[in-house]
Parts: sequence; C-alpha cells; structure tokens
Amino acid sequence: MALKNHFQYLCITFLLISKFLTSQASTRQLPELSMLERHGKWMAQHGRVYKDAQEKMKRFEIFKDNVQKIEAFNAGPDQGYKLRVNAFADMTDEEFKASLNGYKRQEPEMMSASEHEHFRYADVRNVPKTLDWRKKGAVTPVKDQGLDCGSCWAFSAVASIEGINQIKTGKLVSLSEQELMDCDKKDKSCGGGYMNTAFKFVVKNRGLTTESNYPYRGKDGICDAKKASKAAIRIAGYEKVPANNETALLQAVARQPVSVGVDASSFESRFYSNGVLVGGCGTELDHGVTVVGYGKTKGGTKYWIVKNSWGKDWGENGYLRIKRGVTAKEGLCGIAMEASYPTVEGMKD
Ligand SMILES: *[C@@H]1O[C@H](CO)[C@@H](O)[C@H](O)[C@H]1NC(C)=O
Repeated sequence: MALKNHFQYLCITFLLISKFLTSQASTRQLPELSMLERHGKWMAQHGRVYKDAQEKMKRFEIFKDNVQKIEAFNAGPDQGYKLRVNAFADMTDEEFKASLNGYKRQEPEMMSASEHEHFRYADVRNVPKTLDWRKKGAVTPVKDQGLDCGSCWAFSAVASIEGINQIKTGKLVSLSEQELMDCDKKDKSCGGGYMNTAFKFVVKNRGLTTESNYPYRGKDGICDAKKASKAAIRIAGYEKVPANNETALLQAVARQPVSVGVDASSFESRFYSNGVLVGGCGTELDHGVTVVGYGKTKGGTKYWIVKNSWGKDWGENGYLRIKRGVTAKEGLCGIAMEASYPTVEGMKD
C-alpha cells in the first residue's frame, strides 16, 4: 500500500526530559530575586510543581535564560512580531526538540494517481483579498492538546473537518480528537500521526463523533467503539493541495480550512506572542495545524491565519499569523509542503 505522507507529525509535546538538564547552581545575586519572584508567579499561574528543590533550581535557570532571550528579542529591531513568556518557559531548546525525537523523514513513495492528481480548486479564480473562516462561523474555539501529548495531527484534522462540515451544513459542531487517537490504529495517538491517515479513518469509520460524546483526555486510551459508532458528521475523502505552491494553497483556503504541516520547533514559534511570524524556522515539518484564513497587514505584509492547539494563552488567542507569499516555494516554516483538506458528499468537483 502506498504511503501517503513523507512526514510524521509528531508534534511538539514539551516533554520534560531530565537528561538534558544542566546544573547551573551559582551564587544568587540580588537582581535575581525579581526573576525568582517571576518564576514563582509563573509556576503558580501554570500550576507547575517540581519534585524537589534541585529540580526547581534547574528549572529556574532555564526559565531565566528563556525570559532573557525573549526580552532581548523584543527589545531588538522590530521584525513585525513579538515573543512572550508562556507555559513552555521552563524547557530548554534541546528538550523542546527532543520531544520530536521520534520524527522520521520517510522516503517518498509512489502515490496512487487518483489521490495525487485531483485538486478540485485548481480553477478557482478571484479569491477574496482577505478571508477569515472564524468570522464565517466555521471554526470552533481553540483547543489545547496538553503539555505531554503529541496529538496535533488529530487537532489539525478535526479542525478542517469541523470547517467543511459547517460550510456544508451551516452547523458548527466540535468534533472528537480522542476518537481519532484511540480508534485510528494507523496513527499513534500521543506518539504522533498524520492528518491524511486521520481523514482516511473517518471515511472508513463512516464518520466522527462529537467532542462532548468522546471528550479529549490528552493521553492514549482504548477505543470506545460504542461512542465511535455515533457519528455526528461524515466525510467522503480528502485531497492534497499541490505541494510547494502557495497559490494553490490560497485557492484551497478560499474554499475551506486546510490542514498543514509546519516546522514549529524554533524558539520563535515556541514563544510567539503576536504579529506576523516572518522567520526563525526551517522546513522540517513536525507539527500539524490548520489554516483558517489569510490577510494582509496595514504595512502590506501578507499572512496566513493558523489555528494551533496549544491553548488560548499561546500566540494571538491561540492563533498564529505567519508570512504568506515568501520566495521559498515551500512557504514559511514549510506551510505549503503538505497541505490537505477533507471532502464531503455533494461538493462540487
Ligand atoms: C501553482 O498552482 C497554481 C494554481 O493551482 C498553478 O496555476 C501553477 O501552475 C502552480 N505552480 C507551479 C509552479 O506548479
């Protein structure tokens, strides 16, 4: 059977892995008191508890380092976006990247012609200058995959299914990521997966149930077949947006929210606060998200509107704006490399 993806979206999972810790216990200076206070407040705000004083000290050093880097970035030349301290502030870059360790770049295999060729939006002309599917009621509130579960692929697939369902039926229904995690055996639940495999599961399973019927637990679980049989929506299949082509991506997003893979392991992505992200990332896809619109700033910077699954505290109320129309054909952070969307019965080809 042909493999449909070249990448596995293992997501950024923010696992705390102690082997990367470096002990930097040094004599405390007075100016550090305020930083200590900030760490204490941050811990309370995020409900963080450390196993002992030594661990706390190590985490404080990392926190301090990240805070200083964030503040230096924000004080530097204006790049059109800012960073801020968030729930991921006590992790090192290495830990952040280590959470992607299972990431595999696979040999591209032959794709079956039918899936490969058909792009129903190739002839879409006159796309609106700006578009925001949130304003059209096609996007559910931002969800949170949690600190130690690489289930981004499920959130990405679900968001684009929620989108096409609302566009087709007029009803916005929040759907179940946990059903995909528990029941789609081709993907690996918190261990990572592919949006396209998730779409295939939904086709085969004859639908997907609601979030409220099969709520998110943020950990691996056993498939509840009874719940999984109560489909709230169905999809007919999925299609890929021609790779490395932001024009094609625009045609698709003009018609429905689209699942994409991005490289989200950079410091800038991790601590993104607001504005239009214009760099700091490569094209090693490791995170699945959903493009829910596009626009242009007053200054003329074009951007994609991206729904993430890191909760509302990250970015712009859980969303990211990322530069659109870059010279690299892959798009910024590889956003145009592996885009796809679900299809439903009765859609015009
Ligand atoms: C990109 O997509 C557009 C629209 O679908 C198409 O007309 C164009 O030929 C594509 N460009 C490349 C380089 O494939």
